[in-house]
Amino acid sequence: MEEISLRFMTRELCHQFFRGHESDPAVYADESQFQPYVYSEEAADRFYERKQVPGRLELVAMLDGRTIGHVQLKNIDAEKQECEFGFHMQNDSVKGLGYGTRIAWLALAYAFERLGMDAVYAYTLPKNTRSRHVLEKAGFRYIDEQDGYCYYRYER
Ligand SMILES: CC(C)(COP(=O)(O)OP(=O)(O)OC[C@H]1O[C@@H](n2cnc3c(N)ncnc32)[C@H](O)[C@@H]1OP(=O)(O)O)[C@@H](O)C(=O)NCCC(=O)NCCS
Repeated sequence: MEEISLRFMTRELCHQFFRGHESDPAVYADESQFQPYVYSEEAADRFYERKQVPGRLELVAMLDGRTIGHVQLKNIDAEKQECEFGFHMQNDSVKGLGYGTRIAWLALAYAFERLGMDAVYAYTLPKNTRSRHVLEKAGFRYIDEQDGYCYYRYER
């Protein structure tokens, strides 16, 4: 099995990810708002800089030296030992190959073993059935639907 690893998102890895990125209609609540992603160096820089805030970790998933996905561990609360997880594969060519599930497991291991979390939350649009399936397959337990999102929790 090919090895997937998570690395901190450096500025260069951020550009590498967005250079090959395709947006996915599944993440739009209103699909009429969907627009294909067009890479811009300035926008990728802005994205990178906006994410450099406390309580948040931006990671990239790597396969054979190339970026294939983006992982966020955010709202990291050291006191409650809880955080939120989000993930996106880079484009359609790396979806549906089992990578997303493996990345979810790697991110959970990172949150529990390296950040000392006790619980990890995730949320997604109800219509995003692929994401919901992958979260459940990775072991997240469905909590409820609130404000238009389905919430999940994984406890150590
Ligand atoms: C959600 C996402 C990260 C999953 O990654 P992935 O690499 O495609 O996932 P995997 O290949 O590991 O698993 C896909 C699973 O979903 C299933 N699946 C595919 N399309 C599906 C659908 N429309 N509804 C339900 N399940 C679906 C596959 O059969 C597979 O399950 P299986 O292994 O039990 O057969 C990826 O598809 C993605 O980046 N989507 C766009 C961004 C997104 O939705 N992010 C999450 C919410 S913000």
